[in-house]
Amino acid sequence: MSNDIVIAALEAGLAASPDNTSLKMHLAKFLAEGEDKSERAFELAQSVIMVEPTNQDALILACKLAERLGQSEIALSYQSLLDSLPAESQGAGLSEGQDLKGQGSKEQEKLSELTASSGGEAKSQAQQGDKSAPERVRGAKLRLVTEEKIADGFVDVEDSNIYLDDVGGMEEVKKRLKLSFLAPLQNPELMKAYGKSVGGGLLLFGPPGCGKTFVARALAGELGAKFISIGLTDILDMYIGESERKLHELFENARRHAPAVLFIDELDALGQKRSQLRSSGMRTLVNQLLTELDSIGQDNENLFVLAATNHPWDVDSALRRPGRFDRVVAVYPPDVEARGAILSHHLKNKPIDKIDIDGIARKTNMFSGADLAHLCNAAVEYVLEEAIESGQVRGLRTDDFVTPLKETKPSTLPWFDTARNYAMFANENGIYDDLLEFINKNKL
Ligand SMILES: Nc1ncnc2c1ncn2[C@@H]1O[C@H](COP(=O)(O)OP(=O)(O)O)[C@@H](O)[C@H]1O
Ligand SMILES: [Mg+2]
Repeated sequence: MSNDIVIAALEAGLAASPDNTSLKMHLAKFLAEGEDKSERAFELAQSVIMVEPTNQDALILACKLAERLGQSEIALSYQSLLDSLPAESQGAGLSEGQDLKGQGSKEQEKLSELTASSGGEAKSQAQQGDKSAPERVRGAKLRLVTEEKIADGFVDVEDSNIYLDDVGGMEEVKKRLKLSFLAPLQNPELMKAYGKSVGGGLLLFGPPGCGKTFVARALAGELGAKFISIGLTDILDMYIGESERKLHELFENARRHAPAVLFIDELDALGQKRSQLRSSGMRTLVNQLLTELDSIGQDNENLFVLAATNHPWDVDSALRRPGRFDRVVAVYPPDVEARGAILSHHLKNKPIDKIDIDGIARKTNMFSGADLAHLCNAAVEYVLEEAIESGQVRGLRTDDFVTPLKETKPSTLPWFDTARNYAMFANENGIYDDLLEFINKNKL
């Protein structure tokens, strides 16, 4: 079996069980044997460290690869993480140069080689008595943690690594996002001339799994902004005043990380219908949110607010007034082209023999993005099972989708059953005109 096939099979296995750290390490080590796959190997080792910060194998590998990729500060910080492991978990061998978990001393030799030559810069600075050097190493260590996701209070701040181009289809939504957020940034003069300011919120609505969160994250990537996402139910607190405090803290945190996209999910949690069920304190929380939103445009800070809901009809009407979430964009199930793009996206790193993507796209009307992702994983699992039984690895074929297709029903249909009623009987100000058209066109 050629290396490429083994790698493809391991990648496929990993796609089917993304949390399997030992599989990840196995693949990472395999990839690290060649020079050209170092980046992917490094990414894998790092992702293992994220969940198992004391995984020695992963630390050693990451250290080695960081060095190879010319990131000596990061290599050093992995080294210092390794050094800081308690003696038992380091294995008696580490300091004595003996075998390490039966891996042979090769890894260690490489490691000590590596630390000896360790991109000397930071080290020699330390030797020269440069007091800032240890700080820098500590800084590098910190960066390790901050690079992907950091927690600020109860809020996760992410670097988005997806862009609008990664979002399959959804042309209308992308156009609206560009018009609302990208264009004003790129043409501030023009916008001033028309008296439009950046800011103001946009509300995405639609059935679950069709890409609301995904496109918001892609917008953050496109803007080069941090992505901060929160579900409103995470803010609701039974203690009086506590929800308001948390909401304020959320906006403050987001400002601190600007430029940032603040994505508020489950906006309907503040809706009147729900609020009647809860305490009357909900009113003050709505007001707090309005205050926070109103304060955004003022000093022209780079904070972009997007909200999302699966139940737009439950969103408090005060939140939908001009200047708030007045712009509403529907995120529908992907059309046939978009489904093709989404399928390709999810099959990108999998071993492929021959797949009729267009054919599958045509058979998956009303499938959500999440349904399609599930379909691809089911097909991979099917092939993997066969490979384990036969010991033969082969690429995915169209046939492998037959059973998963039979077993997967589009998850968006129940949503349209509900939506149809609101679109027909509660279409105030025509906000669901577009939805009605979609429903009629697709005979839902
Ligand atoms: N247009 C799309 N292009 C690529 N992948 C998509 C798209 N829409 C959805 N997906 C996939 O489906 C998953 C679920 O989408 P998500 O944004 O969480 O849905 P929502 O927030 O609307 O419930 C995403 O993580 C992504 O993998
Ligand atoms: Mg979502």
